[in-house]
Amino acid sequence: MHLKKLQIIISVLVISGFLLAGCSHSSKISQKSINRVIDVAEKQYTKMLEVSTDLAKYPRTSNADGSVKYVSIRDWTGGFWPGSLWYLYDFTKKDAWEKAAVKWTESLESNQYNTTHHDIGFMMYCSYGNAIRHIKSEKYKEILIQSAKSLIKRYDERAGSIKSWNTKKSWDNNTWYFPVIIDNMMNLELLFYASKITGNPIYKNIAIKHAETTMKNHLRSDYSSYHVVDYDTATGKVLHRQTNQGLSDNSQWARGQAWGIYGFTVVYRETGDNRYLNTAQKMADFYINHPNLPKDKIPYWDFNAGQPGYKPDWAYDASKFSYVPRDASAAAVTASGLLEMYKYLPNGKKYYDFAIETLNSLSSPAYLATPGTNSFFILKHSTGSIPHGTEVDVPLVYADYYFLEALARYKKLIN
Ligand code: GLY
Repeated sequence: MHLKKLQIIISVLVISGFLLAGCSHSSKISQKSINRVIDVAEKQYTKMLEVSTDLAKYPRTSNADGSVKYVSIRDWTGGFWPGSLWYLYDFTKKDAWEKAAVKWTESLESNQYNTTHHDIGFMMYCSYGNAIRHIKSEKYKEILIQSAKSLIKRYDERAGSIKSWNTKKSWDNNTWYFPVIIDNMMNLELLFYASKITGNPIYKNIAIKHAETTMKNHLRSDYSSYHVVDYDTATGKVLHRQTNQGLSDNSQWARGQAWGIYGFTVVYRETGDNRYLNTAQKMADFYINHPNLPKDKIPYWDFNAGQPGYKPDWAYDASKFSYVPRDASAAAVTASGLLEMYKYLPNGKKYYDFAIETLNSLSSPAYLATPGTNSFFILKHSTGSIPHGTEVDVPLVYADYYFLEALARYKKLIN
């Protein structure tokens, strides 16, 4: 009995020590800076709501003329707008933001049956997954379960993976019949959630198998990652390791690395399996220590952009840019993922500090929009896909989403 008490006291002391150590780091985001970001977000999103009156059109980025570019419910980014509204509600507790978040979340309802690509996790978990934190609705729960059911329809046992896209050509004209992209790690959170609320392990088992396969086939020895791995579903063998949105097959597309850091951290949180934490940490080390990472910690769109030895397979017209574009969305995803990862690493101060440095950069005038500009998004300077020649140095709705999420995580950590 006494021994047990002693063990409990020691555990409490160890945990408090860890938390204190966690709270005593020098890097922080000032309350003033957070207030400024939320003020900008409120001003921008007030305008965004004014101009976005059609619930079938989701704000994604800007058009060349500065107007908001919208996408349909089928686009992978539809969940980020309601998700950002939910985070704004978290910060402000104002009814108007909750009302808008509910309205935009519910506009996505029919997507629960979408089986045309793997992105249903992004679409539905960033919207309904945030909604259900606030509103304990049976209907929302059912929608999330159906979304998970739709996602696992794309799972193939021989490949041990969920198929990301349907048949597609690579830049050098290979046909990918079963392409899986590193981004797909982000869709697994929905599956873990579905197993928790249904008690049915099928969803999480598929998520774990997918993560295991990704860990085996997407990572290089330095823990950078291939964007696309294409499988032969008859044998489960890898046919191609290539890129779709990066500079070249052997380069490191910045957002791909960010998805991996964040995604493997979630799988660790949900499984407690150290292999995933180790993978997330090593991927983070690659990112943090990269010699081509700018001083303000906002990566170039591809870590190897501008470096010798990386030749694109696609028609790269370098003359189009007088500078190497950054990707603030990759920075925001990474910062949010690192703040989550840090919670599980007793010696994780350097990841915490890096996340804070990133968030301080994003909160500075270099990246934070001036109200009334930037097509009413919060962050400037993201890059969608240079190989496709689209969304270069623009606002992107998912940069805003992960930025707000990271700030919310920061607030929770320091409280
Ligand atoms: N998941 C698509 C992208 O990151 O561009």
